[in-house]
Amino acid sequence: MKVTIIGTGYVGLTTALVLSYLNHDVSAVDKDINKLNLLQEGNCPIHEPYLQEFLDEVGYNIRFTLDIADVVPDSDLVLIAVGTPPKKSGEADTSHVETAAKEVAEVCHPDKHYTLVIKSTVPIGTNRRVAEVINDVFSQRQVKGDVSVASNPEFLQEGLALHGALYPDRIVVGANTENALNDLRRLYQPILEQTFDSPTLLPRPESYHLPPMMTTDPNSAEMIKYAANTFLALKISFINEIAGLCEEVRADVTEVARGIGLDSRIGHRFLRAGLGWGGSCYPKDTAALLGVATENDYEMPITEAARKVNFKQRKHIVDKLREVLKTLEGKTIGILGLSFKPNTDDVREAPSLDIIRQLVDEGAVVRAHDPVAIPNAKNAFSDHSIHFIPDVYQLPMNTDAIVLVTEWDLYHKLDLRRLAKLMKTPILIDGRNVYSPQDVINAGIHYIGIGR
Ligand code: UDX
Repeated sequence: MKVTIIGTGYVGLTTALVLSYLNHDVSAVDKDINKLNLLQEGNCPIHEPYLQEFLDEVGYNIRFTLDIADVVPDSDLVLIAVGTPPKKSGEADTSHVETAAKEVAEVCHPDKHYTLVIKSTVPIGTNRRVAEVINDVFSQRQVKGDVSVASNPEFLQEGLALHGALYPDRIVVGANTENALNDLRRLYQPILEQTFDSPTLLPRPESYHLPPMMTTDPNSAEMIKYAANTFLALKISFINEIAGLCEEVRADVTEVARGIGLDSRIGHRFLRAGLGWGGSCYPKDTAALLGVATENDYEMPITEAARKVNFKQRKHIVDKLREVLKTLEGKTIGILGLSFKPNTDDVREAPSLDIIRQLVDEGAVVRAHDPVAIPNAKNAFSDHSIHFIPDVYQLPMNTDAIVLVTEWDLYHKLDLRRLAKLMKTPILIDGRNVYSPQDVINAGIHYIGIGR
């Protein structure tokens, strides 16, 4: 099928590459000329496993362009994957989505059928508003037009983007017309039936089952995205709340998570206690859901509490440091990990940023390492007093304590004895509970975890 994707961020670019891999005829539009130049030259603008390899393999088949009018008229499907940043109120700003829809309506052929798919995460009711925007343009153009709007929320997990796109748990489609449903079923057929050859780098998991395509109304589809992210966010906040109490009563939260996870109704996943969630989705989506609730005069105390618990974790870790070092003034603290989670260079809403700001405010000297996120972290700080250290074994020099913030694989394998020798005082706060406390203690380091 002929597909245009508007927006080449995480979602847009991953979708474009995967659809091209599945032999669709793909065009990708973006307003950022620098990003387009990079893509046209075959360079991936984000750090995401295997995205560069996919770009090498199929990128030359994709038309990357600034101009919607170049590619939309001949398309069967147009996928909108532009950003929906938070407004001051927390609500998601859908203006980029509406602008994209308007631009599509301005250039599409009046007699051809199109399915316009909203992949961006949008507040409930956006589908209807987008359909109105399109109809307004058609009235101005004095044409009838034939565009069906559908919602197809994206569940992309950074670090696992391509894997999730090729082997999803489910595909959710919210649409009111048969045309839109049929188009989306055709678009995703190779994934629904798993008829494509698995890429060597991303083999199909042996236990993988064919994914269902769940069809529903557009409002419910939009709500599914918010509810899924909020549920995962509160699962993590729940275990973090339990972790806090474990510290009081001398229980080990990793054991508690293991024990409750064995109940198949609960499951093991997303029960890792630690510094909580960051990234481009959970903080923004939980705030947006609360925004929708407020607009509807509806209270959501569970969602509010999940946010409160999450952001408290970042303060709690600084409290632990202050407690063990007596004061933070003049102390040198090493930070292991800046990205909001491993395998990405994304630092949006990363716990590391808040923790570093607090440390600097209290007069500490910060030395920070990350395998890939240093450039993005540098951009996030106007303060130039933070020392970014590219070599992980240089990080411990003169440190009074080290805090592990992001659980990169590299850190699991650190030579702890070497670390201990290089630190001024060997104290490690394990913000993600990745180490065995005994291993750290055996290396001569004072160990402090979360909830254990
Ligand atoms: C999430 C959703 O998983 C995805 O479906 C949606 O489309 C976008 O939001 P992402 O933000 O990439 O994806 O990250 P995810 O892997 O879900 O982790 C989010 C945060 O939770 C990370 O900061 C991670 O460190 C933290 N986390 C995760 C925990 O603290 N404990 C856990 O047990 C799991």
